Amino acid sequence: MNVVIVSSTVFGAAEDVAHHAAEFLTEAGLSVTYKPRLSYAELIALDADALLFVTSTTGMGELPENLQPLVRALRDQPPAWSSMLGAVIGLGDACYGEDFCAGGEAIRELYAELGVIELQEMLRLDASETVTPADDAEPWLADFAAILTE
Ligand SMILES: Cc1cc2nc3c(=O)[nH]c(=O)nc-3n(C[C@H](O)[C@H](O)[C@H](O)COP(=O)(O)O)c2cc1C
Repeated sequence: MNVVIVSSTVFGAAEDVAHHAAEFLTEAGLSVTYKPRLSYAELIALDADALLFVTSTTGMGELPENLQPLVRALRDQPPAWSSMLGAVIGLGDACYGEDFCAGGEAIRELYAELGVIELQEMLRLDASETVTPADDAEPWLADFAAILTE
């Protein structure tokens, strides 16, 4: 099972969570690739079985700038992903109300458009509640690893 992690960040927290997820899932026995800035061509060439997007939210419910070219490319040239599995970790701040983790929701919409099968409920990491998002993601990552290895 080849898992590719894609991250999207403004200040680096999502990248920290993505690095931690890569280590955690590797220790769980999965084959994991994580490169902070991944192009469309690189993503396709990695021939993933499962995708894990780790994204924060910026502005008023927007995806960080660094992910937008990849998202645009995936919409312009939808890959032939008939059985791609996926999950999303969203970082946000509940103070933003309806826009809480809207970046993660945007990736869920992209998954639906591309036919990616979402394996478990999106993890929402709330910056108003925790300063240790990478550690907090571990129980969710353990569930994700269990689904992928069963
Ligand atoms: C200018 C700005 C705008 C933000 N907008 C939102 C938002 O609309 N929704 C949300 O849930 N969080 C929002 N956040 C909170 C961040 O997503 C959150 O702090 C996250 O942990 C940052 O992760 P990063 O370091 O990977 O960018 C915003 C933060 C800043 C500084």
